[in-house]
Order: sequence, then C-alpha cells, then structure tokens
Amino acid sequence: MEKILIIDFGSQYTQLIARRLRELKVFTKIVDPHHPYPIDPTIKGIILSGGPGSTEETLHPLDPNVLNGKTPVLGICYGMQLINVLNKGRVESSPLKEYGKQRISIEKSNPIFKGLNEEEVVWMSHGDSISDLAPNYRVTARSHDGVVAAIQHQQFPHFGVQFHPEVTHTPNGHQILDNFLSLCCCSRDWTPHQVLENIKKEIRDKVQNGRVISLVSGGVDSTVATFLCYEALGPEKVIPIHVDSGLMRHNESKQVVELLRSHGMKNLDFIDASEEFLNSLTGISEPEKKRQIIGDLFIQILDREMAKLKVQDEKTYLCQGTLYTDLIESGKGCGKKAAVIKSHHNVNSPFVDEKRQKGLIIEPNAQIFKDEVRSVGEAMGIPHHLVWRHPFPGPGLAIRIMGEVTKDRLETLRAADEIYIDEIRKAGLYDHIWQAFAVLLPISTVGVMGDQRTEGHVIALRAVSSADGMTADFSNLPHEILGRVSTRIINEVPRINRVVLDVTSKPPGTIEWE
Ligand code: XMP
Repeated sequence: MEKILIIDFGSQYTQLIARRLRELKVFTKIVDPHHPYPIDPTIKGIILSGGPGSTEETLHPLDPNVLNGKTPVLGICYGMQLINVLNKGRVESSPLKEYGKQRISIEKSNPIFKGLNEEEVVWMSHGDSISDLAPNYRVTARSHDGVVAAIQHQQFPHFGVQFHPEVTHTPNGHQILDNFLSLCCCSRDWTPHQVLENIKKEIRDKVQNGRVISLVSGGVDSTVATFLCYEALGPEKVIPIHVDSGLMRHNESKQVVELLRSHGMKNLDFIDASEEFLNSLTGISEPEKKRQIIGDLFIQILDREMAKLKVQDEKTYLCQGTLYTDLIESGKGCGKKAAVIKSHHNVNSPFVDEKRQKGLIIEPNAQIFKDEVRSVGEAMGIPHHLVWRHPFPGPGLAIRIMGEVTKDRLETLRAADEIYIDEIRKAGLYDHIWQAFAVLLPISTVGVMGDQRTEGHVIALRAVSSADGMTADFSNLPHEILGRVSTRIINEVPRINRVVLDVTSKPPGTIEWE
C-alpha cells in the first residue's frame, strides 16, 4: 500500500502530522530514527518530524538512503535542521528565539508553497536556527527577523521548513502538506473506511486465535474499541465487562448496560463494585492518590474476573479505548518526553505496563484522535447518542468532588450535574459543547433563603469547547441558561446554596478540576 514514512524524532506533533495526511487521504507509517530505510517503492515520500533535541547536542542517526536524492523529503523544525547538518551545514543556538506566530516571506513560485501568499503567518517553536546553509541548498523563506524559515535542495525534491505546517496556528500549513503530497505523486485514496479496515486487520493479526477482555465504560472510546474487536474477531472471542464504580453519573451504569446490550454487546458482563470503590476512597482527598486507588481497583476487579473466567493466560488480550491524547498526557506519546500531567489509569498502571511489555494490550484508538474515533464509530453504525456522548474520565465523579468522596457528596453532585446537562440538552447545546459537567466544592458559603440564614456548599459549572481535549476554551453559555441552571440547582439540590461558573481555558487550566 502506498504510504508516506514519518521518521519521529520525539515531537509532540508527530501524530498530528499523520492525522493531517489522513485528512489528505494518504496512509502514513511512523518509524523511529533507528529504523533502517527500506528500499520500498510503496514509500512515496518521507517526513522528518520535529523534536525536543538540538542538533548541537543530539544528532539522531539517519539511514543515508533517506537523503539519496530520489524520494521527496520534508524536514519539519528539527527535521529541517538535521537535513542541513547532515549535509555539512551548521545549526546554532540563536539569540533570536521564535515561539508562536511569526510572519515569513516565501519564494512564491516554489512548488512546496503553491497557492500561498508572498507573506504568510506560521507557527514557530525553536531556539536553534540555521547559521550556515548546507552546500547545494538554497533558502526559500525567511522570517521577518531574517531567520531561515525554509530550505530546498537545488536538484532533489528535499525540502525543509523551520515552522510547523501541521498545527492549525499555521493557517496555510494544510496547503503546504498538500503540495508536498502532490510532489510525492500520492494517489490520495486512503479513506475512513480503509482506516477502519486497517485497524481491524491489526487486531486480527495480533490476537490470532486468542481472545480479548474489554473494559467498557459506555464512553465513545471504549465502546468503539470493543465494537472494533467484535467486528475483527467475532463476538465469541470478545468478553466485554462494565464495572459500576459507583462514581458514574445519575443512573448511568444501568443505561449504558441496557444500551450496549441492545446494540449488539449481548455478552456484556456487569459488575457492581460501587461499595468497594467507595470504601477504598474513605479519607482520601489528594487527587493523584484518588486516581491511583481507583485505577488499581479497576485492575484488581479485572484480575479477579479473569480468574473467574479462567482466562489469565498468554492468549488473553486486554482491550482499552486509550486515545493518542491519553498517551501524550501520561507522558507516553510518540514524543516520550511529554511531562505527566495526570495519570490516566489505562496508561500508567503496573498491570497495564506489564501487559504492554508482554504485547497483550490492544488499543485500537491509540493512533487516532477523538473526532476520528467518532468518525470510525459512525462508520460502524454505532448510534449517534453513544458516539457523541461528552467525554467522561475513568475516575468518574471522584475527580469532580474536591476533597473526600462520600455517598452524600456523590448524591449531591449527581443531582446538580443532571440538572445542568438537562438544561444544556433542552437548549440544544449538548452536541456543540465538547464537555460540560458540575464540580462540587466542599466549602461552606452563607446564603439567605426564606428570610433564614443558610450555610451550604458550592457547585461550579464547567463547559468547554475543544477539538481533541489537548487544548480547550471555556464555552460562552447564554446567561439565561446559566440563570435557570443556578435556580434549579439551589432549589432542587439539598445542601447547595451557591453556583459559580468556571471561565478558565486549557492551558493554563485543565478540563477536569483534579
Ligand atoms: P484534562 O483534565 O487533563 O482532561 O484537561 C482532558 C480530557 O481527558 C479526560 N480525562 C480522563 N479520561 N481517564 C480518562 O479516561 C482519566 O483519568 C482522565 N482524566 C481526564 C477529561 O475528561 C478530558 O476530556
């Protein structure tokens, strides 16, 4: 199959490059720099990613065949600097650091810049710059500060850009990637249907005559991952399990189980572990501790269940809905250098690590983004309301209750959250918001109701818009709806006497409060 090879030098954006090429209907394969470059006619072009290193300190090896002249190559950021250094040019730490949006002047007639303006806005993120250009290369774009922004070989189709065409902050970045693919003569026939078939083939190749256990929360990621296993392997080889942690929203587990069973997951196993979770969280207030306890308990329950089903062997795989963004936030993305922001239990747990090392984990969504998971879900005929459910974190309401999780607090938060979501749905806003939820702040505030002084707790309302959960803006909800939600929560939920609105974007905030 025709493909573009992406050599990954550890950039946070490597998967984003792959995603952009999928949008342009081209199949990609990501490899690490030590990978020998195969002489393979199906490789139509090569992209060298960015990376956190500096060519002054970390000069990654590169198979000499990559720059052999015939195959088109595009180096991005570190990738461009590497091309320059490997061809006897120099890259140095520059006093002129360029971070964020910059204006550049380009050589408009250059095929890589076809359709662009003489002046373009691009997104840069570099401290090093080209100081001496490699022989046989020429500069095709400069920033307003005179820094080399793009280069090209004088004979071969080898290009380099200092900026990131793959991010949306480079408005015409898509066009540059599109131009590169045209130079590679790609036939552009990679469709979402093929993405789906490819994922299923990978599952089949891996599991062969084994079987799969899958934890299904009811969220789109684990639901799509499990249905992919069903389609790839047949229902008899897949054992889906739903664990009610008691940390779900109002009536959620019951509805999820009914819905999934009625849509084909007939053998879905249901485990009510709500008491066990609540007991294990007694007296715990620290966010990472809560996450760890919940993650460990999920795994213990899974282990117990596997023992009961007598499937603790080397032929039983664990399927998870892990997304690429979960891996990045847990410091395990392609870049492997990302800091751990929050430990997602499906990524950072010794049990999962051990299974991963043994090759016993199936993560069908690990190379794609949430919106692509939704497209795959829709292509498989999963109903709209399952595919478009707002994301809900594995640790559930426990990370939306600040402080200790108790039965009372769970009930309070559930009641407030249900009212909030109900009003958002009634206003027709649910599908336009990435995620909306209530948070319980267990601090006391003073109020007055019926001429009486009250003391109650505070509910914070959060609603964000986002493309992938990596960054987010707070949503502008109409004041009329906010007013209605506030009145209903205070009137209908005991112990709450104040409602506040969270207007923080990510970064600097995160979407969840813990
Ligand atoms: P944050 O709070 O990190 O959230 O900005 C980004 C997205 O990830 C979800 N989230 C989780 N999902 N397990 C999950 O499955 C987790 O531990 C977890 N923590 C956060 C969050 O709801 C948002 O959509």
